[in-house]
Amino acid sequence: MAQSEERVISPLPQVEDVVDSALRPQTLADVIGQDKVKTNLQIVVEAALARKEPLDHILFYGPPGLGKTTLAHVMAKEMGVNIKITAGPVIERQGDLAAILTNLREGDVLFIDEVHRLGRAVEEVLYPAMEDYALDLVVGKGPGARNIRLKLPRFTVIGATTRLALITAPLRTRFGVIFRLDFYDLAAMEAIVLRAAGLLHLPIDAAGVTEIARRARGTPRVALRLLKRVRDYAQVRAAGFVSRMVADAALDLLEVDAVGLDEIDRRLMGAIIQKFGGGPVGLDTVAASISEEADTIMDVYEPYLLQLGFLERTGRGRVATRLAYEHLGLTYPETVQPRMI
Ligand SMILES: Nc1ncnc2c1ncn2[C@@H]1O[C@H](COP(=O)(O)OP(=O)(O)OP(=O)(O)O)[C@@H](O)[C@H]1O
Ligand SMILES: [Mg+2]
Repeated sequence: MAQSEERVISPLPQVEDVVDSALRPQTLADVIGQDKVKTNLQIVVEAALARKEPLDHILFYGPPGLGKTTLAHVMAKEMGVNIKITAGPVIERQGDLAAILTNLREGDVLFIDEVHRLGRAVEEVLYPAMEDYALDLVVGKGPGARNIRLKLPRFTVIGATTRLALITAPLRTRFGVIFRLDFYDLAAMEAIVLRAAGLLHLPIDAAGVTEIARRARGTPRVALRLLKRVRDYAQVRAAGFVSRMVADAALDLLEVDAVGLDEIDRRLMGAIIQKFGGGPVGLDTVAASISEEADTIMDVYEPYLLQLGFLERTGRGRVATRLAYEHLGLTYPETVQPRMI
């Protein structure tokens, strides 16, 4: 198992996150932050309900752990319809998708996670299904083969992806609405931590909430995970109460620093700075130097480092910024400004 899969601040889902379903917002009103997306979704829902039509197809994209799956569930709930859940890599053949589609009921939501990983042939079945609610089948073999078109119930595809760029153009155009989820600001993160602490009946003060929120990389999934680790620590070492000092001590023990970076982030930034002179350096080269996969770095680590302004992506590769040097306690190499004569 790669280290990234078990680290506490990984925005990727982990086994124990299953209990998170209890913490998951159920309705749009419960959803904290992402205000613009929320307002737009509210309008989409109200309009569809008023017209008594199924929702338009929706695509959510953005880094892991920001609420794509949550919003898909919320949308189904707001519409009062069933949600069927699948994922791009799971649907291997056209027949798999045909089976899923023919089992849908009018208005149902079909949630396709990692929608960028659908196979080409499977995608081709999806196009007419999304556009015309039709399933095109070939019956028979050889010269006697015929095309038949089955009518499908009117349904909604909600797709989620961490990589918008990997979605083919024909698929992308079939989504009526596309929303980008961004990292949450501190106020939203605090509200998420506070709400979860309430649901977990965990005594915590405002400073404790802020400390956890600050270190959770703008990512609700990370916030919930840190909160649980802090809860354990508080229970064993602090009579169950979470103050700033308790949160601080627990998170230091987990080696999550003041801005939410862990050992792997620091290793990544450290490698760019110390092995490659601060960059520019190609992604594959850095990845190999710290034994992580390039894809994982791009999907999981980089978005937050870019957001913090520690890292820049340039045409020639990754570059560490002055902020990154300062955060790691390293001296930024001042370049000598060429003088005008
Ligand atoms: N806006 C929010 N308010 C409160 N909690 C949230 C919010 N968004 C997400 N969460 C919580 O964060 C967790 C992760 O969210 P979710 O599983 O929806 O992320 P995701 O974007 O689908 O991630 P991935 O790309 O890994 O599938 C959920 O368990 C949910 O409880
Ligand atoms: Mg998800």
